[in-house]
Amino acid sequence: MRIEPAPSVRGRFRLPGDKSISHRAALFGALAQGPTRIQNYSSAADCASTLECLRALGVSLDRRGDEVSVNGRGPDSWTRPEGVLDAGNSGTTLRLLAGALAGRPFQTVLTGDESLRRRPVERVAAPLRTMGATALTTDGKPPLTIGGGRLRGIECELPVASAQVKTAVLLAGLQAEGTTTVREPAPSRDHTERMLPVFGVPVERHGLAATVHGGASLRGAEITVPGDVSSAAFLVVAALVLPDSEIHLDGVLLSPTRAAFTEVLQAMGGDVEVRLETADPEPVGSIVARSSPLHGTTVDPARVAALIDEVPALAVAASFAEGTFTLTGAKELRVKESDRIAAMAEGLGRLGGRVRELPDGLVIEGGASLQGAPVRSHGDHRVAMALAVAALAAEGPTEIEGAECATVSFPEFYDFLDRGAGRG
Ligand code: S3P
Repeated sequence: MRIEPAPSVRGRFRLPGDKSISHRAALFGALAQGPTRIQNYSSAADCASTLECLRALGVSLDRRGDEVSVNGRGPDSWTRPEGVLDAGNSGTTLRLLAGALAGRPFQTVLTGDESLRRRPVERVAAPLRTMGATALTTDGKPPLTIGGGRLRGIECELPVASAQVKTAVLLAGLQAEGTTTVREPAPSRDHTERMLPVFGVPVERHGLAATVHGGASLRGAEITVPGDVSSAAFLVVAALVLPDSEIHLDGVLLSPTRAAFTEVLQAMGGDVEVRLETADPEPVGSIVARSSPLHGTTVDPARVAALIDEVPALAVAASFAEGTFTLTGAKELRVKESDRIAAMAEGLGRLGGRVRELPDGLVIEGGASLQGAPVRSHGDHRVAMALAVAALAAEGPTEIEGAECATVSFPEFYDFLDRGAGRG
C-alpha cells in the first residue's frame, strides 16, 4: 500500500469495539447460561476468530454487523470440535480458549497462523497442567492439545504480567474444585476481573492477586463494548505529529490498565485531553488530541504492561519528538504478532528515524525528518498502522508491504485516516 503524506488530520470519530473486551464478552457468553447480547462487538478479524472457534465448539451464536447474540447453554453443552480449532492470528483467542477448554472432558487441538505458531504457549499450558489438565505444546508453541475435565484450584504466581494467562487460569479455576488465585508481578489489563461479575461471578481482588471459586456458573449478560483504546492510539499520535490537527474520539475505553500511552504522550508535551464519562463496569470517555511539539521521555517500566500494545505508536511519536525517548522493561514485545522491537526499529530506521534496539526496549533519538521509503509490516497489524502514521508525517510517499494486516484489529483504519486527512 502506498501512503502519501497528509497536511493534517481532523475530525470526530467513534471507534469499533475494543478487541480485548469483545473476545471476553463472546467467550463468557458462551460459558454462561442464558442469552448474552453484545453491542459494538469489535470488527477485528481476531474477534471473528473467537466467534468461529466458539461455533466449532457447538455454541449457538448470531452476528448482525456489530451486534452479537450468544445463546449460552453453559460449558457442559460444548462439544468436541470436528477438526483443529484455528485461532488465526489471535493469541487472545488461543490462550483464553485454552483456559476454558482445560475443564472440558474432551481434548481439543488449538492452533493458528504462521505468526501464532511461533508464539509461546507454555506460559499458559504450565499452570493448566498443574491444575490437572492435559496441555501438550509443540516445543512450547501451538498447536496446543488441551482438555482434561477434573481440575483442582491453584495459587499461581505469573513470572510475567499477562492478562491472557491470568484469564486462562481464572476461567479454568471456575471449573475447578476449590479456589484459584493468580498473582502478577505488575497489573495487566483487568477486563476479566471487571466482566465476570457482570456475568454474575464474583472475583476477589487483593493488590495484584485475583481469586475465583470453583463451581460458580455464569449467567448471560448485556454488554456494550467501548471503543478500542489501542486503535485510538494511532489516531492520537497522528493528530499530535501532523500540523494543524485535532481529533476527537468518543466512547473510548479509558481503563488505566490500557490508556497509559496518554500519560506518556502528555509527559512528552502532547496536547491530549482525556475526559472520563462513566466508570462502571469499565472507564469510558473521550480523548481529544491536537498537534503539539513533542520532546523525548523515559517511560517508567512499571507502566509498560499498561501500554504494551501502544509501543509501536509511541515509537512513531518519539521519532518526531526532540531529544531522547527511552523505553525498557518491554521484553514481551519480542513475542507479539512479530518481534515489535526489531520490526519498529527496522521500519522507522528505513524512514530515516534513529532507533536503537535494546533487548527489552528501544532508544529513539528524535528530531530527524522522516523520508518516505519502502517498509514492511512483518504481517503485524500494529506495526503496519504505526508505520502508516509515520508515513503520513514523512516527506514523500511510503510503500508498506503487508499493510492490509491492519484488519486483524482495525479494518477501518485506512478509511479513518483518509477521512481525517480530508481525502476519504
Ligand atoms: C491481551 C493481553 C495482552 C495484549 C494482547 C491482548 C488480552 O497480551 O498484548 O494484545 O486481551 O488479554 P499478554 O496477555 O500476553 O500480556
